[in-house]
Amino acid sequence: MLEIQDLHAYLGHLYVVQGVSLRVERGDVLFILGRNGAGKTTFLKTIMGFINPSRGRIFYEGIDITSKPLYERARMGIRYIPDNRRLFPTLTVEENLLVGLSDIHERKKILDRLEYIYTVFPDLKKLRKLRAKQLSGGQQQMLNIARAIAHPDAKLFLIDEPTEGLSPIYASKIASVIQDLVREDRGVVIVETKPWLMKKIGGMYAIMNNGKIVSQGSVKDLMSSRDLIERYLGVTMS
Ligand SMILES: Nc1ncnc2c1ncn2[C@@H]1O[C@H](COP(=O)(O)OP(=O)(O)OP(=O)(O)O)[C@@H](O)[C@H]1O
Ligand SMILES: [Mg+2]
Repeated sequence: MLEIQDLHAYLGHLYVVQGVSLRVERGDVLFILGRNGAGKTTFLKTIMGFINPSRGRIFYEGIDITSKPLYERARMGIRYIPDNRRLFPTLTVEENLLVGLSDIHERKKILDRLEYIYTVFPDLKKLRKLRAKQLSGGQQQMLNIARAIAHPDAKLFLIDEPTEGLSPIYASKIASVIQDLVREDRGVVIVETKPWLMKKIGGMYAIMNNGKIVSQGSVKDLMSSRDLIERYLGVTMS
């Protein structure tokens, strides 16, 4: 569903993404790994359309979207979930969810989607009348993800460090939401380095180093390579 061909991107004069080629099919999860500053966030933002690549092609569902504007990519079902929680702080939880559904005109359909979200995140149902700024960090990240998956047409999710700074309970909740997306045959590209979470979700990995993919394969293979993990992730496996 997503095919990246030889993608290059700059941030100002800084050459960040240096020729990345990757594929993601429906029902796939691709973990993007790499040290701080490797270019992971820039890569996701380029797929979403926040950054124009200097070279290369992005195909989504067989269509070349390289020069399509961000809103069009969103309309086609691509969602970017940033690591900073970009909510509307003074709107309530429910109003935040409704903003993303504003293109749906049928009231019943909107209520169905809200019900779906509240089934996935029962906590958000209890909190629905609170303003987003009143939520804890974990709850805000939950709402951030809920907003992205709320729309029925969202198919490909680009998720940047969703569990950063969250308690294991919230992190594990987010992991099961990602498993649900996979079961529903949607695609996920995720920047996330917690080994337990990668093991739980499974799928594929690609390690980015200085803007290039230096290793890729299945999470299963990665988990058995202590050398790769220590060399590129800077974590010591227990
Ligand atoms: N707005 C910006 N302007 C200029 N340079 C930037 C900007 N944002 C990031 N950079 C630089 O671009 C490079 C890649 O940054 P990027 O955020 O894509 O890395 P990352 O792999 O997501 O890192 P992290 O793991 O810390 O989130 C880094 O050298 C960073 O300092
Ligand atoms: Mg980043």
